[in-house]
Amino acid sequence: MATAASLVSSPYKMTSVKDLAESPGLSSIPSAYTFRKNQNDQQSSISDPEPDDSIPIIDFSLLISSCPEQRYKIIHDLGKACQEWGFFMVINHGVPESLIKSMMDTCKRFFDLTEEEKREFEGKAVLDPIRYGTSFNASVDKVLFWRDFLKVFVHPQFHSPAKPSEFREIAMEYCRRTREVARELLRGISESLGLDASYIDKTLNLDSGLQILVANFYPPCPQPNLAMGMPPHSDHGLLTLLIQNENGGLQLQHNGKWVNVNASSNSFMVNTADHIEILSNGKYKSIVHRAVVNNIRTRISLAMAHGPSLDAIVSPAQELMDRENQVPGYVGIKYKKYLELQQSNQLDNKSCLDRARI
Ligand code: OGA
Ligand code: NI
Repeated sequence: MATAASLVSSPYKMTSVKDLAESPGLSSIPSAYTFRKNQNDQQSSISDPEPDDSIPIIDFSLLISSCPEQRYKIIHDLGKACQEWGFFMVINHGVPESLIKSMMDTCKRFFDLTEEEKREFEGKAVLDPIRYGTSFNASVDKVLFWRDFLKVFVHPQFHSPAKPSEFREIAMEYCRRTREVARELLRGISESLGLDASYIDKTLNLDSGLQILVANFYPPCPQPNLAMGMPPHSDHGLLTLLIQNENGGLQLQHNGKWVNVNASSNSFMVNTADHIEILSNGKYKSIVHRAVVNNIRTRISLAMAHGPSLDAIVSPAQELMDRENQVPGYVGIKYKKYLELQQSNQLDNKSCLDRARI
């Protein structure tokens, strides 16, 4: 087996962090993985006045309830969560726990394939429908991240790696179910903005909306405080629904502090993304988040990114601006172009969205 030092030697044949973490006697990380956290980063602690149990919880069953009062209240809560946090947990979403477990298991089996098998799915361009890789964008990352990933475009056209053999069938069902949840949440979000429930769906053509499955693999890291799984960033698209195996690692930036999120099992961690910020003309800001690593267990997370149709041009909703006499704070930009920009540059806070600000 290669030594840790030789593992990162060639930028073209990047070593996965899985192989790196498994190299015998690894007690420190190669310098390419040293990530300088911002000196001013404030961590929320147990004594913090805002513990993570204040993270909003949305009961999905109320959102689809036929009782108008219940729906009115949950839409209000959803709007408040989007405005104050850009993040919420969704419970009672109706996606079977067994399906969620099978999906996590098949993702794990993907990462357990040999490096040679996984490299078949390496992909070349950032918009290739199946892409296995490490870090974020290893050809431009200044620092490497302690993360391997698999990204698969699963809607409007469904793609799947050919291995593991059961992946296709499980992923197809999981993606269909999560897409339904996301679309219902987006109906609620539209309403919370005072727009027609179908506004986002229609304007951004969600019948052809892009859905990307992103499986993240973070193996134990010998120096977790020096490395980063995913650096601070906001997501492209509208809504990301995230699940993880039993290990935490997701942190949110809230009121200038990093807040740990520990989801109860069987709930989705949902964050609003850049195109909700554009559409709402800055009312619902996309949340900056990151993934930290640990030195004990492998963490796997699965993010389902839900975006507009690739050729939709997203700009602030005219109806909102007319009603509230606002001027647009963002230029209209084609989702495909935005996605290309975001995926081919370094992942750095909201640097991609900043390009669309007026
Ligand atoms: C992402 C992401 C966080 C995590 O995939 O965009 O932010 O906890 N993941 O893995
Ligand atoms: Ni993210």
